[in-house]
Amino acid sequence: MKFHVITFGCQMNAHDSDWLTRAMECRGWTAASEDEAEVFVVNTCSVREKPEQKVYSMAGRLEFLLKDRPGGFIAVGGCVAQQVGAAFFERFPRVRLVFGSDGVTRAPAALEELAADPELRLALTDFLERYEEREAAWPELADPQAAAGQAFVNIMQGCDNFCAYCIVPYTRGRQKSRASSAVLEECRTQVERGARELTLLGQNVNSYGLDKHGDGVGFAELLRKVAAIPGLERLRFTTSHPKDIAPEVIGAFGELENLCPHLHLPLQTGSDRVLKRMGRKYDRARYMGIVADLRAVRPDIALGTDLIVGFPGETEEDFEATLSAMREVGYESSFSFKYSDRPGVAAERMSGKVDDEVAQERLLRLQNLQNEITQESLEKYVGDKTTVLFEALSRRQDEGGFSWRGRDPGGRVVNVAGLDDERLAGRLMPVEVVTAKKHSLFAKQAGAAW
Ligand code: 5AD
Ligand code: SF4
Repeated sequence: MKFHVITFGCQMNAHDSDWLTRAMECRGWTAASEDEAEVFVVNTCSVREKPEQKVYSMAGRLEFLLKDRPGGFIAVGGCVAQQVGAAFFERFPRVRLVFGSDGVTRAPAALEELAADPELRLALTDFLERYEEREAAWPELADPQAAAGQAFVNIMQGCDNFCAYCIVPYTRGRQKSRASSAVLEECRTQVERGARELTLLGQNVNSYGLDKHGDGVGFAELLRKVAAIPGLERLRFTTSHPKDIAPEVIGAFGELENLCPHLHLPLQTGSDRVLKRMGRKYDRARYMGIVADLRAVRPDIALGTDLIVGFPGETEEDFEATLSAMREVGYESSFSFKYSDRPGVAAERMSGKVDDEVAQERLLRLQNLQNEITQESLEKYVGDKTTVLFEALSRRQDEGGFSWRGRDPGGRVVNVAGLDDERLAGRLMPVEVVTAKKHSLFAKQAGAAW
C-alpha cells in the first residue's frame, strides 16, 4: 500500500510518525505523496488553539482526495484522537483507525489488518499500564545517508505534573518510564547505523525513572550511560521541567564532553504570582538559581524556553516580570504562546481571563524582545570557530549560491556556502562564523568534514 503521514505538534509526535513510517516500510508499504497515497495517517496535536477544527477540516479534505481511490482510508492518531476517539467514525466514513498516545505502538499491525479487511474499523485509545516497547523498525534504506545524522529516542511516555493550563497529562496519560536497557540498546543501534547526535525525548525527562515503572536508573545516570556510547558525537535531551532538574544533571553539563551546551528549560512566566497559579512548583528565584548553576559549570550554555502570555489573571505587571526574566536569562531562543483554554484543565475554570487583544499585544512585545536578544547573542559568535552537524542542502540561494544548513553544538542554525560536496548530511565540519543573520549564523569551512 502507498501511504502518506501528516504530522502536527511536538517532537514526540514527529518521532512517533517517523517510527510508524519505518514500521510500515518494514511491512512492504511505500511512503508516497498526497497525490498517490491510498492510506493517510494524520498525527494530531491538541496543546493549543483549535486543533479539533483543524483535524476535522483536514479529514474532510482527505476524504475528498480519496473519492476516486477505492480501498483508501484514513487513520487519525495523537492527542486529538485520544480525546475524540471513536466519535471520528460517526463523522467521517473513510476514517477507519483512531489511535491515541499509547495506541501508536499497535498502529502498524492495525493498518495491515484494515487494509486486508475493508469492513473493519479500529479504535486504539486505551492507556496501557506500562511503557510498551515498540518493534524495532529498521527498513533497508534506499539511501543510508538520508537517515544519518540525528536520531531521537523515547525514554518515557506521559506526564504527572498537571500544570494548570496543560492538556498533556490527559491526552498522553500518566508518566511511564521506559526500561534503561531498552533505551540504551536503541541508542547503540542508532549510533551503529550512523547517528552522530542523539536526542532523548520525554515530556519531563528530569523525572525519568521516578515513577513506579522506573528500573532504578535516574536521568543523570542514564545520561552518563548514553554519553559513553563509542562514536556518539552529540547528546541532547528535551523537555526539562525546572522543578525536577537534579544537581547531577546540571553537573553533567560540566562533565560530559558530548553533552551539548544547550538546554530548553520552560519558564512559562517570570511572575511568581502567575507561576503559583500555573502550579509550576518553582519560583523565579529558584529558576534563576538553576540558570546560575548551569552557567557556573558550562559558561557557554545556550538557553531556550517556552513562555505563555495572557494566563488567567495575568496583569501588565506580571507580564513585565516575564519580559524582565527574559532579559535576565538572555535566552537565545524561545517559543511563546497566547494562553488557550483547553477542555478539562484547571485554568479553564479560573477567573480573570485575559482579553485576546491584550494577549496578542503582549505576545508581540515578547517576540520583539526575543528577536532583539537573539540578534545580540548571535552577533557575539562572529569570528568564532565551531563545529556544524549538517542536516540538509538549503535550496534558498544566498550570496554564495546554495548553502549547507546544520547546527552548532549550542543548537544554533549555521549555513555554510560554497561547499560542493553533495553528501554532507549527517557529517560534521569545523567552521568559522562569518556573519550573524536574524535567526542564524553564516560560516565558512575551516577544516575537513568527518
Ligand atoms: N495555552 C498556551 N500554551 C500552552 N502550552 C501548553 N499548554 C498551553 C495552553 N493551554 C505551551 C507551554 C508548553 C508548550 C509545549 O506549549 O508553554 O511548554
Ligand atoms: Fe501536542 Fe503536547 Fe500532544 Fe505533543 S504532547 S502532540 S505538543 S498535545
